[in-house]
Amino acid sequence: MIYTVTLNPAIDFIINMDNPILGTINRSDSETLYCGGKGINVSMVLKELEVHSIATGFLAGFTGKEIEETLQNQGVQTDFVHLENGITRINVKIRSDEETDINTKGPSISDYDLHLLIKKFDEINSDDIVILSGSAPKNADDTIYAKLLSKIAKSGAMTVVDSTKKKLLNTLEYKPFLIKPNINELIETFDAKISTLHDVEKYAIKLQNLGARNVLVSMGDKGSVLFTEDKQVILQSAPQGEAINTVGAGDSMVAGFIAGYLKSKDYKFALKLATACGSATAFSEGLCKQNEISRMLELIESK
Ligand SMILES: Nc1ncnc2c1ncn2[C@@H]1O[C@H](COP(=O)(O)OP(=O)(O)OP(=O)(O)O)[C@@H](O)[C@H]1O
Ligand SMILES: [Mg+2]
Repeated sequence: MIYTVTLNPAIDFIINMDNPILGTINRSDSETLYCGGKGINVSMVLKELEVHSIATGFLAGFTGKEIEETLQNQGVQTDFVHLENGITRINVKIRSDEETDINTKGPSISDYDLHLLIKKFDEINSDDIVILSGSAPKNADDTIYAKLLSKIAKSGAMTVVDSTKKKLLNTLEYKPFLIKPNINELIETFDAKISTLHDVEKYAIKLQNLGARNVLVSMGDKGSVLFTEDKQVILQSAPQGEAINTVGAGDSMVAGFIAGYLKSKDYKFALKLATACGSATAFSEGLCKQNEISRMLELIESK
């Protein structure tokens, strides 16, 4: 079974409008709601790839219920810990000539809530995969992913971590199968200047020396580069097209990589499917759909 873990999910409230001005009443031209959070995005894209997963993590209040129902209606199985207090956050994204985002904090978790989440992995085994993605609740410290992984790793399950800075670095001793920093996350994790492929390689190898098995560095429309545990360096360009919404491109890439690797056990194919999913999301309004993924994969494979 594949589990995706989203510790701090969100409903994104997208507001399209001209010239928002602080200190006045602004009126929107249109608005949309998207249920999300990074692990949840991975589950949704896996579903498009016809790969079953269980979405877990923390949810709270009426917004949490909405996310759970949306996932279930889309055929994604859920098994979240429901927090007693607070509501799952609503992030406000204002789209005008510029993009302005207000990402809210979301509910706090207690030690007991974390214990309940860790307990969900009691029966996990080496055939399972656990994907940990995104930000953590406001009161969680930088060891939260490491605490989850210390239990999961003992079972021999394959793990994926899409996080940054100390939260990411603290997990590496548990030897995640895959980590997927984007280039900015690589820069902020090491507080270093990273501009050439040679720089990227230097820091990816550093991450491998700390314990990461495979390191996939994504670079938006410039594509990505994969450093495998058997010392291959595989560059993959991204298909060209009009980017409509790049939010979730990285999550789609993680879903595509895992689905591709499970199907083929081949890193090159996994990276191609990962890229097809990432770019298909960048070229779509929301997350990628099957048709667009297939179209992108054909384009990538024909090169
Ligand atoms: N503008 C784009 N055009 C084509 N492909 C893109 C574009 N943006 C992203 N992609 C594809 O998606 C992959 C992942 O994108 P990116 O590096 O932006 O991830 P990310 O920053 O982790 O995204 P997020 O965290 O918002 O999900 C890229 O390597 C590329 O293959
Ligand atoms: Mg990302």
